[in-house]
Amino acid sequence: MNTKYLYINTIGCQMNHYDSDQIAAVLRPLEYKVTPLMEMADLVIVNTCAIREKAEQKVFSFLGRLADMKRSKPDLLIGVGGCLAQQEGARIIERMGHVDLVFGTSAISRLPRLIEQIESERCRVVDVDMSEGIDEFDFAGNESDNGKVTRFVTIMQGCDNFCSYCVVPYVRGREVSREPEKIINEIRTLVKAGVREVTLLGQNVNSYGKKEGLLIFSRLLELVNEIDGLLRIRFTTSHPKDLSKDLMFAFKDLAKLCKHIHLPVQSGSNRVLEMMNRKYTRALYLEKVKKLRTLCPEIAITSDIIVGFPGETKYDFEKTLELIKEVRFDGLFAFKYSDRPNATATRLPEKISEQEKKERLKAVLDLQDYYTIQTNEALVGSEEKILVEGYSKKQKVVDLHGGRQDFQWTGRTSTNKIVNFVQNDGGIYGDEIIAGKLVSIRIMKAFPHSLWGEPVKAANIPLGFRGEKAHVA
Ligand code: SAH
Ligand code: SF4
Ligand code: F3S
Repeated sequence: MNTKYLYINTIGCQMNHYDSDQIAAVLRPLEYKVTPLMEMADLVIVNTCAIREKAEQKVFSFLGRLADMKRSKPDLLIGVGGCLAQQEGARIIERMGHVDLVFGTSAISRLPRLIEQIESERCRVVDVDMSEGIDEFDFAGNESDNGKVTRFVTIMQGCDNFCSYCVVPYVRGREVSREPEKIINEIRTLVKAGVREVTLLGQNVNSYGKKEGLLIFSRLLELVNEIDGLLRIRFTTSHPKDLSKDLMFAFKDLAKLCKHIHLPVQSGSNRVLEMMNRKYTRALYLEKVKKLRTLCPEIAITSDIIVGFPGETKYDFEKTLELIKEVRFDGLFAFKYSDRPNATATRLPEKISEQEKKERLKAVLDLQDYYTIQTNEALVGSEEKILVEGYSKKQKVVDLHGGRQDFQWTGRTSTNKIVNFVQNDGGIYGDEIIAGKLVSIRIMKAFPHSLWGEPVKAANIPLGFRGEKAHVA
């Protein structure tokens, strides 16, 4: 069989990135090899997102570009998967004459069969069936030979929360947790292939295993913490209403669990939180933040905010700004509210104008910029353990004093802040810097979205770190 090339464009959240790896893995037996060059592709798959209108527009503009490509390459196959595919189904095929396949969020395991059918019959196919439930098959590590240090691992799919603005429960289905054995095996396989950090993914990790009577999430974390060779664990997302004491204690007790939690608050107004169906109050949120910081003072807290939810008054919005000031988040993602099909908030009156949403978004982002830079600046002078992810993609080589050049490395602190650095005068640091290693870096400069540091001189590394004997002068 001849090798064919597959190009995947992933739009959307980490779950889609994980799914794209699985798409590549299930198509490998059909001799499809992933290419980073779209011009080379025999099959282009776009893995779509439906969370906001903007994400939807991104998909349709990409598909528009593919129409030109198909005109000059008629044998090209085009598949649309993911959340927008689940939402729109056959409408995508009707609207876009050049699309061959639409497959939903539960159809990845059926993908080889669908592609074979299209290749042999030259037909167009839609599969958005969700009735078989969780799309569970054994990919463990199939796509893990690409040298990545950090990987996503989905531990649960779907969502049962039905926040009134959100499309996820409709496009990802009901919440289902994967069995702990499958998760642990997958992580072990990834570690064997060189992975040193995993991010466990679920829309609401706190309810992991509850429905199925499996382990609770903090117990799963303990098991992952025991995996030899794995250095760091992260997870996302935790719903504030379900953030439990045992999970808060995990930040204190589990050595490999990174000191960062993404805890989306969405709004600081109780009235809006209720309309959003979030099931917590501003006070409860603030109380949980306080407890987290008491148990783990260095924890970084980030969040999501929606501005311009239907009926959000200036007073409601002020409450959101006040909450941001009170919490002093390490970072924030803020979004303009967007009507989604199925989501119940779409039917609410009192929509906020686009101009007002724009202004509120800017106010949130400007305020947060101040706290982001402050939390970054507070780190200057401190020594941080960084997991080296590889060369910086933005700028591989940097100019140093005296006309020298050096490779620029990048990694993150436990608190999820990006740190860039160079090896620094060859060998000052005890060991060579390589991807996948935890190194000690002194933070020298703070920027809005990253930090600059220097490897800590070997002599400053505490005794025993390099396995050396004491040398007393
Ligand atoms: N499960 C996660 C969120 C996943 S969606 C959680 O509950 O936190 C990521 C973020 O997108 C949400 O936190 C929310 O801030 C934003 N979002 C979701 N639907 C939206 C909509 N209709 N309009 C604007 N932002 C939205
Ligand atoms: Fe959407 Fe709410 Fe579920 Fe998050 S918890 S995915 S915001 S419905
Ligand atoms: Fe993620 Fe977008 Fe789907 S945020 S779950 S890819 S709707």
